[in-house]
Amino acid sequence: MPILSKGKPEAGLPVWRLNRVLAILQTRIETLSREGNRETPIVWSTAHMYTTTQLAKIVAIQRSLDPELAGLVCAFHDVHTLHTGKYQDHGPKALGYILEIVKEYNDKWSDQLGDISEAEVEIIYQAIKGHSDKNVVTELPYEELLKDVDSLDAFLHGFEPQEKSAREERTIRLLDEFNIDDQLSALKREVPE
Ligand SMILES: [Fe+2]
Repeated sequence: MPILSKGKPEAGLPVWRLNRVLAILQTRIETLSREGNRETPIVWSTAHMYTTTQLAKIVAIQRSLDPELAGLVCAFHDVHTLHTGKYQDHGPKALGYILEIVKEYNDKWSDQLGDISEAEVEIIYQAIKGHSDKNVVTELPYEELLKDVDSLDAFLHGFEPQEKSAREERTIRLLDEFNIDDQLSALKREVPE
């Protein structure tokens, strides 16, 4: 499928369903309490949601996948952690939130922007449910994209992956895919005096 089949390039990247989904997620974020014993702060989950979504589009274009669908996968991938602050089984537990939010989107926006279909929800959930197992390589292109982007995004936010971990391997391989892994070693941390 041509990447821009849903719209002409001059009309911009066809990601308006994704934009509406992100708006629904943002509205929910604003109602969440920052208190409580979250394993991860809301601000991190929020930043990670947006930055993985943007990286997903780039990687999807590179791999001739659908950038909007890849963006939806990443927007939803930690939705359970976003809501609860907990990581345990957060992949499988994303499903309830995905169904609720897709229903809200379809009720409000499908007439204008097109629906998010059951087939797309299936791809999204299949990609998300096992995404914590970074060492498992699958045949599913959107699951692989998510695992790669999730690894790279944490790295770009300054987290150092464990040496020889699957996260490290995925980060290096993805940077290599964009021909920028060599430049990394030239990066030096300059701390202002
Ligand atoms: Fe993540």
